[in-house]
Amino acid sequence: MGIRMIKGVIFDLDGVLVSTDEMHFKAWEKFAKELGIINFTKEDNKRQKGVSRMESLEVVLSKGSRVYSEEEKQEFAERKNQYYIKLLQSLKEDAILPGVINTLKMLKEKEILIGIGSVSKNTPLILDKTGLTPYIDKVSCGLDITRSKPDPQVFEVAAEKLGLLKEDCLVVEDSIAGIIAAKAAHMRTLGVGPEYKQLRADYAVANLQEEIDWKSILDS
Ligand code: G6P
Ligand code: MG
Repeated sequence: MGIRMIKGVIFDLDGVLVSTDEMHFKAWEKFAKELGIINFTKEDNKRQKGVSRMESLEVVLSKGSRVYSEEEKQEFAERKNQYYIKLLQSLKEDAILPGVINTLKMLKEKEILIGIGSVSKNTPLILDKTGLTPYIDKVSCGLDITRSKPDPQVFEVAAEKLGLLKEDCLVVEDSIAGIIAAKAAHMRTLGVGPEYKQLRADYAVANLQEEIDWKSILDS
């Protein structure tokens, strides 16, 4: 087997490039309280990482005892999103996580394509607000897919948009669902974030500011 160079890096957005987790949490918490659910915690919020809006809603509803109709659930998800979008209005450059800009510049210098693979339907807004849009070659997000992580679809679409074979892509992720999705897409994985040790990624670091052996990751 010869050496296969990575030609594209596909980044998850929330928790990898930007810190929006606190805003997601606040929006869900506000909604939960309106429903009389007062025991929605940060621990529950962790289970919402990388999964779709509707699945995240189920995490909140599981903390209560009532059963709701599909129609009600649609309204709930929409309501939370309105709270979230309101919070996103104040998002700016300082929400970009440490080491991100340098990493993106380094990859660009190496002529490696940069993609986004996020199930968030707010991806374009978040990229815009933080000023990240110019760094990104192609975006695959919640608006492009029908199945969310751990299904590989969002990463497959990203590779396709970048014009690359799946095997030539590396995925950078902070969620277990995302790492499972990337592996299902036959992509190599770099795990980041507070839970990096539990992610079972091919490589793992606490954040992108750490000393990372990019040479061996990209040449492997
Ligand atoms: C990301 C977050 C999840 C969130 C999902 C959908 O993957 O990690 O917590 O549920 O995006 O986001 P959206 O902005 O579409 O509600
Ligand atoms: Mg994430």
